[in-house]
Amino acid sequence: VRTLTSVAQASLACHAAGHAGRLGFVPTMGAIHAGHTSLVRRAKAENDTVAVSIFVNPLQFNDPGDLARYPRTLEADAELLAAAGADLLLVLSAGDMYPPDFATRVTQPADLTSVFEGAARPGHFDGVLTVVSKLFGISGACRAYFGRKDFQQTVVIGRLVQDLNLPVTVVVCDTLREPDGLALSSRNVFLGPDDRARGLSLVAALSAVNLAFERGERDVPALLSAGAPALARLAGPPDYFAIADPSDLSVRPRARAGDVVLLAARVGAVRLIDNHVLGAKLGPFSPGP
Ligand code: PAF
Repeated sequence: VRTLTSVAQASLACHAAGHAGRLGFVPTMGAIHAGHTSLVRRAKAENDTVAVSIFVNPLQFNDPGDLARYPRTLEADAELLAAAGADLLLVLSAGDMYPPDFATRVTQPADLTSVFEGAARPGHFDGVLTVVSKLFGISGACRAYFGRKDFQQTVVIGRLVQDLNLPVTVVVCDTLREPDGLALSSRNVFLGPDDRARGLSLVAALSAVNLAFERGERDVPALLSAGAPALARLAGPPDYFAIADPSDLSVRPRARAGDVVLLAARVGAVRLIDNHVLGAKLGPFSPGP
């Protein structure tokens, strides 16, 4: 893997690769796990060259403590990404991405960005939209790969590309899970053994809602009630537990196949998020150790 450590170098290398063939792009904040490497493998299968960025984007953190604690594991990341087939590794710095005269913000209306994750993390999606716009410009990639675990992120990025006619195709890939169902996340490393077990409440709640949906229930409050017992093991109520239209995140009284169940909850010191598209397969999972 060829590592590029400045925006200028990264842009040159990516645009050269994009002229020579198809360039697939996987933006990350590092702390690489199997979810990321599956995106890289998919990108490799569908493109001639794969670029991966590692940039812990300060603009999308509303909590400075969360930014400071975010895991940074560059050497291990580089090895995992190279083994998965990454060709170009863009390791970018905040000073280079946001020089003192940096003035632009990319925003979207509150109905997309101030609900769910946006309600818990004010400004988060403006930070994501701004950095992703920059990264699309720097890479010039024809396809960019994102995990469905960050469902709302995929919705706002899809809208960004549509609204601004950006010449990139957003490819959304399935969430990777541990054998017991826990969605892979860079934040899982902070879960102690008890919290790790409690974290399974999220996927258990999603599974219960999905089962009720498969059995014919369409009433949204009834569907959410089916998931509530699984969440009783958590110390407090979830940040949100809702069923939304995947195109605009609006909520309705009755659910349809393709609607998404969105869930976020604090488990010990960690905030976990997960989701499931109703009607899609979920599990079966093997019980934990
Ligand atoms: O999903 C992430 O890791 C980040 O939000 C992204 C897309 C790399 C932007 O910083």
